[in-house]
Amino acid sequence: MGELSNPERRMLRALQTREGNWTLEEILAACNWTDQAIATGAGHGLSNKGLVNIKESSSIEIKLGQQGEKAAQEGLLEKRIWEWIQSQTSPGMKDLSNAFERHEAGPGVGLLKGLGVNIDGGKFVCENPENISNAIEERTTFIQTLQGTEEIIEHFKGRKGLIESVVVVNRNWSITKAGTAIEDSKLNEVVQIAEITPEILQGEAWKDAEFRPYDVALEASMPRSGRSHPMQALIERIRSIFLEMGFSEIVEDYVQTAGWNMDALFIPQDHPAREMQDTFYLDEPNQIPLNPQLMKQWKEIHEHGGKTESKGWGGKFDEEISQKGLLRTHTTVNTIQYLAENPIEPCRVFAIDRVFRKESIDRTHLPEFHQIEGIIMEPGANLGMLVTTLKTFYQKMGYPEVRVRPAYFPYTEPSLEVEVKWRGKWLELGGAGIFRPEVTEPLGIKDPVCAWGMGLERLAMLVLGLDDIRQLYISDLEWLRNQPIL
Ligand code: PHE
Repeated sequence: MGELSNPERRMLRALQTREGNWTLEEILAACNWTDQAIATGAGHGLSNKGLVNIKESSSIEIKLGQQGEKAAQEGLLEKRIWEWIQSQTSPGMKDLSNAFERHEAGPGVGLLKGLGVNIDGGKFVCENPENISNAIEERTTFIQTLQGTEEIIEHFKGRKGLIESVVVVNRNWSITKAGTAIEDSKLNEVVQIAEITPEILQGEAWKDAEFRPYDVALEASMPRSGRSHPMQALIERIRSIFLEMGFSEIVEDYVQTAGWNMDALFIPQDHPAREMQDTFYLDEPNQIPLNPQLMKQWKEIHEHGGKTESKGWGGKFDEEISQKGLLRTHTTVNTIQYLAENPIEPCRVFAIDRVFRKESIDRTHLPEFHQIEGIIMEPGANLGMLVTTLKTFYQKMGYPEVRVRPAYFPYTEPSLEVEVKWRGKWLELGGAGIFRPEVTEPLGIKDPVCAWGMGLERLAMLVLGLDDIRQLYISDLEWLRNQPIL
């Protein structure tokens, strides 16, 4: 049968006082324990020895999700829209999209249609408003009390983030015949050694002592401790990979000029990506003065190619545009400035930093995200070196399959797109290339420069297995707790 451990002795002694089922609470009280892991552990051991029976049942408990908590306070979306519909005279789709934001109006109409609201000539109509009010009332009661029919639970399960179901395991313990037969004298708790120390080994006492056995298969409660956000952990990991590969990190401000963000990179001043709808230009500072000498060089390059063999873009270069303040749209703005300040000394530099673009938020886009930027400047730096460096990086991240494809950026030639294989598919993670003479010449750079800029959030989606980029930033505690430690 094997020796009984102290908790097993204590639990068996308690169970001997009466037959029948014991709940966890009863056992904790009878044994004077507070830690339920001790009770389940002892129960497990006793059951293995045939001294108790365990009856296990699991049930599903419903909790509010993050959206659910919001809905419980502010009202379900259908309720808010329905109340709005009732307060209007002859409301239609147009009025709705004025009264509610797009991300609410769209799904809201879907919900109301499901409840029996129709759209006729752009206007909302319904046959039986009372039914709709009742159904909404029932849903509201559910979201506030979590009490409702099977049907309503199914309904909420189908909606994103409103409720979560967690499985709870219930156990009952009862003593067996063999358990009752164990003599009381065998149930005295003995001194057990749980941890072997040098002091114990130096003495004699260990010879007669009992050692507490370990059972690594037992269920234990999950310790919850503070830890880094998965994005922060990922950044740390990327940082250590580049440091290990001999790169130094640079950190710079995200308020920049159009001059450095674009002109220095030979992006033509009439390039579509410069438009207001793609770039966040600033009111404050609206203009940031730049060195006139520097702008003169950019002007020459842009208008007719400066001292390079290039013909430039032609047209008229505008210094006003160069000095516009903006939120950087890529971190290449920082590596290029690093090169401008250090044009001679060979270097390997990287940055992991925030960039901004006017993107509408969806499953794969955010207006604020991070790039992993880097450059290698040295005599003889070439495309092979660039590709190997990127491959090595992704390999160290755990993605051994990397390929590059030809691409276009105004500031590199040749230009590459970097793709990584994930679950059988090739995913585009960034751009790379060798800086063009139009970029390096005005800054006095003589050696070739390999450069790249890759999306951090995209990579995070792979590492964490996400299909929605927004998950990274919604502070969903349950999700955060369950993330792997990177
Ligand atoms: N800046 C580019 C982007 O934002 C990436 C890139 C960096 C491409 C350096 C080539 C060289 O997508």
